[in-house]
Amino acid sequence: MEVVVLQNPAHVGRFVADLVVDLVERRPDAVLGLATGSSPIPTYRELIHRHRDGIEFQRTTTFLLDEYVGLASSHPASYRRFIDDELTDHLDIDASNVHGPAGDTNEPHGEAERYERAIAAAGGIDLQLLGIGADGHVGFNEPMSSLSSRTRIKTLTNQTRSDNARFFDGQLNDVPRHVITQGIGTILDARHCILIATGPAKADPVARSVEGPLQARCPASALQLHRHATIVLDEDAASRLEFISYYKEAFAGRDISVAPSGDR
Ligand code: F6R
Repeated sequence: MEVVVLQNPAHVGRFVADLVVDLVERRPDAVLGLATGSSPIPTYRELIHRHRDGIEFQRTTTFLLDEYVGLASSHPASYRRFIDDELTDHLDIDASNVHGPAGDTNEPHGEAERYERAIAAAGGIDLQLLGIGADGHVGFNEPMSSLSSRTRIKTLTNQTRSDNARFFDGQLNDVPRHVITQGIGTILDARHCILIATGPAKADPVARSVEGPLQARCPASALQLHRHATIVLDEDAASRLEFISYYKEAFAGRDISVAPSGDR
């Protein structure tokens, strides 16, 4: 794991945008895996700026991590709507290359299988952006998810539903109970995983994921198994890491380099 600790969320956004742009410049047809939620927003704003400065995303393909079961893509709190509003509508990506699980399907199990096949048919994900939940989830793989799970239906914990009520005007009862999410095994298949975490609420799950034991109780700890995972943190999210001075020293001395993304 490469652990990169930066001053604040704006620095995190610029750093991660650099990695995305570097990949897209080297491989214009890159397949990007996108997270929703607050953590990647500074990165998405930065990517929109880079596009205005001339970076093209025309040939990229994107796949969302997850979607709420029961929400149509037009629903204001759907993840498809979120990514369109926060990123893809502002880039030159063809809408037909922006993929997410269909939340409003009558066949959510079949949709999860179809989505898994669609990712494979695109050649797999070159660079997967991830956030982390307060309970250590990645995608919507809640604690005790199988570490080799594939895209499927999951039931959200009460903690995640209440954390996400802010996207539903604070109405907990409006937050769906079920989601279609890429599995942990699906996520680990990405050629480069970048986990973004900022703010003090992420300090505990980050410490458990990076330095705790590898265990289903903390799904993001599965990234310890990945051959190319980059954990990009602000000072607050890094504040409970035992080896923080080592990570900083290694990064400053370039003992670790952030290796190129998505090498096939
Ligand atoms: C979103 C997702 C979730 C979020 C996580 C953190 O697509 O899969 O794992 O990344 O819940 O959310 P924020 O960034 O809002 O704290």
